[in-house]
Amino acid sequence: MFFLLVVFFLLIDKQLIFALINNIVDIDKSKIINKLTIIGMKKALISGITGQDGSFLAEFLLQKGYEVHGILRRSSSFNTGRIEHLYFEEWVRDMKQQRTINLHYGDMTDSSSLIRIIQQIQPDEIYNLAAQSHVKVSFDVPEYTAEADAVGTLRMLEAVRILGLEKKTKIYQASTSELFGLVQEVPQKETTPFYPRSPYGVAKQYGFWITKNYRESYGMFAVNGILFNHESERRGETFVTRKISLAVARIKQGVQDKLYMGNMDSQRDWGYAKDYVECMWMILQHDTPEDFVIATGEMHTVREFCTLAFKEAGIEIRWEGKGVDEKGIDVATGRVLIEVDPKYFRPSEVEQLLGDPTKARTLLGWNPTQTPFPELVKIMVQHDMEKVRKMIANK
Ligand code: NAP
Ligand code: GDD
Repeated sequence: MFFLLVVFFLLIDKQLIFALINNIVDIDKSKIINKLTIIGMKKALISGITGQDGSFLAEFLLQKGYEVHGILRRSSSFNTGRIEHLYFEEWVRDMKQQRTINLHYGDMTDSSSLIRIIQQIQPDEIYNLAAQSHVKVSFDVPEYTAEADAVGTLRMLEAVRILGLEKKTKIYQASTSELFGLVQEVPQKETTPFYPRSPYGVAKQYGFWITKNYRESYGMFAVNGILFNHESERRGETFVTRKISLAVARIKQGVQDKLYMGNMDSQRDWGYAKDYVECMWMILQHDTPEDFVIATGEMHTVREFCTLAFKEAGIEIRWEGKGVDEKGIDVATGRVLIEVDPKYFRPSEVEQLLGDPTKARTLLGWNPTQTPFPELVKIMVQHDMEKVRKMIANK
């Protein structure tokens, strides 16, 4: 009987099986999905699949031949904009290569949903990317940030343990350079002491340590990627780089007058998100479970990002004044295009972050400078110029 089942699953189209499973409610889905491992495809579960990193990671894992599952949280409007192409594009629907993504409703604040999803999928790898990820917003919703980012990580680890998957399922935890906060040494590496400066940073510090604790207590392959800022054309629009690239595109095409900014002196080690998700995967493929700093090793001010982004659109900026009186002026027209608005200041700021990616380069063979800083700015501005152009054309 079992032999016949094996032959059955090998012969018929896997996508068809999934479609059947999703339409049959009265059967034990987990048992059927377990049988699919016979086919030998690795299964990954991504929390935060609808976010910037989750969407790039889903693409990357599909290309690697993974069966990709994602946790989707309920929202009153569509929150799948970054992954819709993974349903509709031809290469994903190429059933012969068995590539697709599967979404499951769940939430980091709801243990039962995490247990149910993990039990059903029995993943080989979990990428825990879901988080309230905005530092400034974490000052406004500190308790929710702790629930999702700190206790949420515990819920994920505990779900794996409760289900007895400690030896099967590897877990990647999305840790952050915000742990270093008020930096204790420059550059920051794996051994640099933490000093978080926001409810977000503090919540992520819990996430870091509970991941390490589960690794040491239960022998789980549970690891932290301490990622420095990484940006892209899919970055949320309230993070500084995307706010700038979108404003540049709107100002250049006459649909915005001015850009209001917070701390212009702040310095960040900015990389390209697409390069960073590759490293998440590499960390989970390493022989031993270890934590890694992922960064470019280069730091720039917010002001430099602005100057370069406007230059990419053909606008040269001259800076005048200091602090809240600082202004960015269009050299060609004398128009003030950038001003400082203190409402964007944070109760406590992380002034500078600079990572040392030596360990990732040496042990994983990861290249931290695949996308140099000017190239990153160019990708973002060009993307947003096109986006605004289309928006104007469709009006
Ligand atoms: P992002 O774009 O803000 O995406 C966050 C994801 O988490 C979204 O899919 C979001 O869903 C989901 N999410 C939020 N709260 C949730 C909840 N309660 N339950 C389930 N899902 C929830 O963030 P990102 O830039 O991709 O970053 C990914 C992860 O890396 C985050 O944990 C972030 O803190 C961390 N990190 C990011 C950076 C960076 O520079 N990007 C650096 C270091 C670490 P919706 O789409 O529905 O909002
Ligand atoms: N968002 C924003 N908006 N930031 C501004 C602005 C503004 O108008 N003006 C200046 N900044 C400064 C912020 O004060 C901060 O020092 C810097 O620009 C970067 O801000 P964000 O882009 O919001 O990112 P972040 O560094 O606070 O946090 C991001 O990176 C972390 C890794 O270091 C997020 O992605 C976090 O989730 C991530 O952990």
